Amino acid sequence: EKEGYDHFMLKEIYEQPKGIHETLNRRLDENGIVKLDGISLTKEDLEGFNKVYIVACGTAYHAGLVGKYIIEKLAKIPVEVDVASEFRYRDPFVDDKTLFIAISQSGETLDTLAALREAKNKGARILSVVNVVGSSVARESDDVFYTWAGPEIAVASTKAYTTQLMCMYLIALYMGHTKGVIDMELYHRYIDELQKVPDKLRDMLADETTLMEIAKEQYKLEQVFFIGRGLDSAVSFEGSLKLKEISYINSFAIAAGELKHGTIALIEPGTLVLALATQDRLFEKMLSNIQEVKARGAYVIGLAKEGNRDIEKQANRVIYIPDCMDDIAPLLSVVPLQLLAYNIAKLRGCDIDKPKNLAKSVTVE
Ligand code: M6R
Repeated sequence: EKEGYDHFMLKEIYEQPKGIHETLNRRLDENGIVKLDGISLTKEDLEGFNKVYIVACGTAYHAGLVGKYIIEKLAKIPVEVDVASEFRYRDPFVDDKTLFIAISQSGETLDTLAALREAKNKGARILSVVNVVGSSVARESDDVFYTWAGPEIAVASTKAYTTQLMCMYLIALYMGHTKGVIDMELYHRYIDELQKVPDKLRDMLADETTLMEIAKEQYKLEQVFFIGRGLDSAVSFEGSLKLKEISYINSFAIAAGELKHGTIALIEPGTLVLALATQDRLFEKMLSNIQEVKARGAYVIGLAKEGNRDIEKQANRVIYIPDCMDDIAPLLSVVPLQLLAYNIAKLRGCDIDKPKNLAKSVTVE
């Protein structure tokens, strides 16, 4: 079943261009407009919502962080994101004017299901983003937006995450368009950029040399920090989770602007920092953050778009992703982080597909 790959995780990383393509193309009509067939969110419904709540756990929660950013921007509606285990015990402010979006690969995560029921009791409209057809979360939702990732076997989620991201972009575009609050030229630019992602990913996956070199240099390390700003901060959380869950390295992610408020105290000579700097708007700010940690002796691996070679002046090493619109960068930038985690865990001799203490789907509290 692994089709020649050493692990399911690697196979699933390589399946991402296909999953992303499927998730996108099933939802586009011949004019490149997002259609949500089978999902009953009318203009009237959308205008009736005053808030979106995205609730999920783990990697799915990280997809929600990107969702917040994109939905607020394109659909012009406030979005809150929360982890399900907090949401369900917090008596959150949810009513019949809330669109509640649950994200879950398995559709069986107990906390996510309980949060969904809580929101439903309070009158919210439930839309779920789920990979497993007919799962509990799917069954209990008003509408379901399926990710077309195909079965995900490895405990570490990869293709579910990138297809969840794609759903976030499509929901944001659909809402923005239906409500008439998005400029159509911009709309088509997003669609165009999203359509280019699968090929860009294929190109990236064709050359793993830099990542292998970095993995070989760094696999013995016991501590790593991921930093980033804006969407890069959301992807930092996901990159860090991936690394810790399969390699058992103590990995920590933080919004780069927060470093000075405490965490920079932990940076010492030789500390590894992975600095995500894919956002043009925040690029200079990230260069300053890199400078700050380097001044304390950190070894910095930067992650940037091909066009932003200036990062080489600051970072010790750089991983490049193809040039793209800032807002869709998470779909590309997470992939080298998944591969880095995979290669490091492999060199450490870890049980990659079944890491210790973890279950694929957490059906207990
Ligand atoms: O099936 P779900 O998407 O609801 O699962 C949520 C988390 O348990 C899951 O993403 C977990 O964090 C993964 N092991 C991360 O790789």
